[in-house]
Amino acid sequence: MFDFIFKRETPEAIKKGNKAIVRIQRFNPEVDEKPYMEEFEVPMTPDTTVLDALHHIKTEQDGSVTFRRSCRHAICGSCAMNINGSNDLACHRPLSESLDYHGKITIKPLPFQPIIKDLVVDRTTFWAQYMKIKPWLIPPDDIPEKEFRMSPEEVEALHNAETCIMCGACYSSCQVVGLNKEYIGPHALLKSFLRTADPRDSIPGERLEIVDGDNGVYRCHTIFNCIDACPKNLNPTEAIETLRKLAQKRLAYEEAREERQKTLNEPIREA
Ligand code: SF4
Ligand code: FES
Repeated sequence: MFDFIFKRETPEAIKKGNKAIVRIQRFNPEVDEKPYMEEFEVPMTPDTTVLDALHHIKTEQDGSVTFRRSCRHAICGSCAMNINGSNDLACHRPLSESLDYHGKITIKPLPFQPIIKDLVVDRTTFWAQYMKIKPWLIPPDDIPEKEFRMSPEEVEALHNAETCIMCGACYSSCQVVGLNKEYIGPHALLKSFLRTADPRDSIPGERLEIVDGDNGVYRCHTIFNCIDACPKNLNPTEAIETLRKLAQKRLAYEEAREERQKTLNEPIREA
């Protein structure tokens, strides 16, 4: 009954680890009715990344295979895709560590966003939600003469959130996003936390009002998919939790921030 599974021979080169089979979800909306899977055999060394394999396929086998990439160093976030069922960056994922027993890897586009072609998705809603939270810093009118001063605790709190590369892996792993495209989403809420907690920003109260709305922090069901998906090991769920607490005492937080800013703006005394 299960002959079709056991009769399939794993090719010698794949057994030896010199080659891999890359299964890619293909879809060209201009000609295809629905997505389908296509397999390619690629050469592999211990250093080959998933992105290297995609490049090999595109340059040597089928130039129509379409994907996004830019930096190849896990910095730009453009190569995020669904690899073996979870979201990751193709450029920092070793191919040899992503293969199943038959030497295969399966690559699909990020979920919950319309496919433009093959592995490229339309990220319009991702960026629209991001813009909703005003992701830029809005400094106060009375900027200190010298630098803004921050306590080590504040630097520590902001440091992690600062390393987000806007890859969208968290957004596309979030079940709430799958059901509701109006939800602000983990990427934007993490950025909102970063700005709200930053003593250089002048509108923490307004920021908390935005995330306190219908499609803000209370939509998060604390499923933790965003944490598992993040290639930078960030914790959007914790940032959302913090924003929830701050939103509940928004006025007190605003006042405390103003008082704190006065201290931060005091000139540094010479020892
Ligand atoms: S939080 Fe992580 S997964 Fe989400 S956009 Fe930033 S880097 Fe990507
Ligand atoms: S190509 Fe830039 S993060 Fe992968």
